Amino acid sequence: MSTRNLTASTQAADWFPASWRARPAHQMPTYPNAEALAAAEAKLSTSPPLVFAGEARSLTTALGRVAQGKAFLLQGGDCAESFSEFNANLIRDTFRTILQMAVVLTYGAATPVVKLGRMAGQFAKPRSADTETINGVELPSYRGDIINGPDFTAADRIPDPARMREAYYQSAVTLNLLRAFAQGGFADLRRVHQWNRDFVANSPLGPRYEDIARRIDESLAFMAACGLSNQPQLAETDFWTSHEALLLPYEEALTRTDSLTGGAYACSAHMLWIGERTRQPDGAHVEFLRGVGNPIGLKVGPTMTPDELLSLCRTLNPNNTPGRLTLITRMGAEKLAATLPGLLRAAKSDGQNLVWCCDPMHGNTIKATSGYKTRAFDAILAELAAFFAAHRAEGTHPGGIHIEMTGKDVTECTGGAQEIGDNDLAARYDTLCDPRLNGAQALELAFLVAEELKSARA
Ligand code: PEP
Ligand code: CO
Repeated sequence: MSTRNLTASTQAADWFPASWRARPAHQMPTYPNAEALAAAEAKLSTSPPLVFAGEARSLTTALGRVAQGKAFLLQGGDCAESFSEFNANLIRDTFRTILQMAVVLTYGAATPVVKLGRMAGQFAKPRSADTETINGVELPSYRGDIINGPDFTAADRIPDPARMREAYYQSAVTLNLLRAFAQGGFADLRRVHQWNRDFVANSPLGPRYEDIARRIDESLAFMAACGLSNQPQLAETDFWTSHEALLLPYEEALTRTDSLTGGAYACSAHMLWIGERTRQPDGAHVEFLRGVGNPIGLKVGPTMTPDELLSLCRTLNPNNTPGRLTLITRMGAEKLAATLPGLLRAAKSDGQNLVWCCDPMHGNTIKATSGYKTRAFDAILAELAAFFAAHRAEGTHPGGIHIEMTGKDVTECTGGAQEIGDNDLAARYDTLCDPRLNGAQALELAFLVAEELKSARA
């Protein structure tokens, strides 16, 4: 792939990697040192891509099957990755939990599960306020480790372009480990199922999940009896990466021309999404993502109208390619029940090929009495149930789930089988940003969604 010579045959004639710069860009840092920014961009723009265009196209194909109801999407990972909490065990545990969830969901949906991490690049965060005030001291808000630091000091909060380079290298190392885990034997289906068996044996809700676990046992035994144990599909898996494309100087610098098709691809991850706060139809983020060939996501909050949605679909997926556009709804159960059916109807009658994915996290963030930002497991389940019900009623495909989770045993969301209460949150509240489901909560959620998917099939 060449670096900056971007005259693609497939992309819109008026698009180029920097065309977003002429549009209003929300949530972007103001770097005090323009020279340092230019130097960081220049260095990244000649660095190797993290992913290749062909991989992004394979993910579009896989997501196209989701759009057609022939596969299910599982997207999950940290709210924000961090430079200080960066080690192999964390990456392994989150990857492992996603695999465990995927096995359970594959059983429920009786279709392949597309596994997509919020990993290896999920560093930039939109904020509801530009500044934060503590004890009368006002400082710029923390915007993710790729932009500034989390400590409440003036020095840490200054946006530093050198952080882009560190994020790039951390993403490369994370991706390298994920690729090794996915293809090197760690992801063997029988081994993953054995982890689930251990979970079922140790969970207070074990008996509830025993039935699914036993059926998966039987299926594996049946495959072995048929001589299918040596299939590579059992020993390895496909795993993809994604993050919010918030920091456009970084994304532009990692954009490359695909030598095969001449199209531009954002090579920082396989899939990129547009956040709820940066989806202005004339804004910089929509402008940047409309021109890259990757599969892309769009967060859809409760204020989205059918007209606005259709107009964004036309801008972001002009050829109506299945798998190109994933709509990630995030509303809270009540607002979802009021808003989603109208959006589903409008998109269906317009013939839009879409993946509909439910993010039951970002519409359910509350402040606990203990002061911590948290989410209740039951509220998360309620939004998922409303999502499945709306699709059932409209005859559309509930394509997937998008969750903030970690393999670690944190105490950030309340509820679940461990019955984490408000007063337990302080014990292991590690997130730099939003509260995540811990490994046990995430797996419990997968078992419940699998039951839902299975009854929908029946
Ligand atoms: C996120 O996914 O971390 C996020 C900020 O979501 P949203 O844009 O939907 O608020
Ligand atoms: Co978040």
